[in-house]
Amino acid sequence: MSESISETQPRWNAASYDEKAGFVSALAGDDLLSLLAARPTDRILDVGCGTGTLAARLIAQGVDVVGVDLSPEMIAHARAAVPRGRFLVRDAQRLWATPDERAVGLIPGSFDGVLSNAALHWMPDMHAAAAGMASALRPGGRLVAEMGGAGCVETVRRALADTLRARGRDATQADPWVFPDIATYARVLVAAGLRPMAMWHFDRPTRFAAPSGLRDWLRTFAAQVFTALGDEADAAISEVEDRCRSRLWHGDAWVLDYVRLRMVAEKPA
Ligand code: BEZ
Repeated sequence: MSESISETQPRWNAASYDEKAGFVSALAGDDLLSLLAARPTDRILDVGCGTGTLAARLIAQGVDVVGVDLSPEMIAHARAAVPRGRFLVRDAQRLWATPDERAVGLIPGSFDGVLSNAALHWMPDMHAAAAGMASALRPGGRLVAEMGGAGCVETVRRALADTLRARGRDATQADPWVFPDIATYARVLVAAGLRPMAMWHFDRPTRFAAPSGLRDWLRTFAAQVFTALGDEADAAISEVEDRCRSRLWHGDAWVLDYVRLRMVAEKPA
């Protein structure tokens, strides 16, 4: 079966992802892996595995990992970087929808744990994503996840929307993300049959120590917005920078107003 990607989804540059976005796994990785507390005999599903950074750490401990990501570029990179991992192009909102020969190991009810870092905010169908993760778990299995929480990158989102509006564009393009609060995602987890054990909603200001930091971030994380702008992209990025400068430029670095939603949930035994 061929591996495809929806044109409405961002196209990731996996080669530069670790350089430009390595902070994504670096900032949360230790905490999430310690909450997951995987044992060497465990099977873990990594949802939105990206280039396989966290999967590689689990595999090095002897854990059996299946990683899924919507991006074929990311999955190709993960397969090359972590040969002992099993990585599949898969939309986690439709986890079981496209069986194929590479899906060996992606078995409902077979996982001791599901791990997801910085991926669920790309999945607007929160219920479908949670239902997929819940059905992957065995009874007693645990979900450990972190995503953007309500208020995440609010300054950038407003500046993006204002910039698009000023250019006569559809400002809804500026918001490809979902950033829920605790109450919203707790309901999603419960509806999927999971029991929330702990949830945290916290600010995590995130520093990019270069004058091009915000520009690079926009090119990496809002790529689809600027690709759609074509020749106008560079000017639009400069406008976004201008709109954000007074709040986010700290003289020697851009500090983005990241907010995280972290959760631990269990599938009742
Ligand atoms: C993240 O990967 O954490 C993220 C991506 C886009 C916007 C905000 C956060």
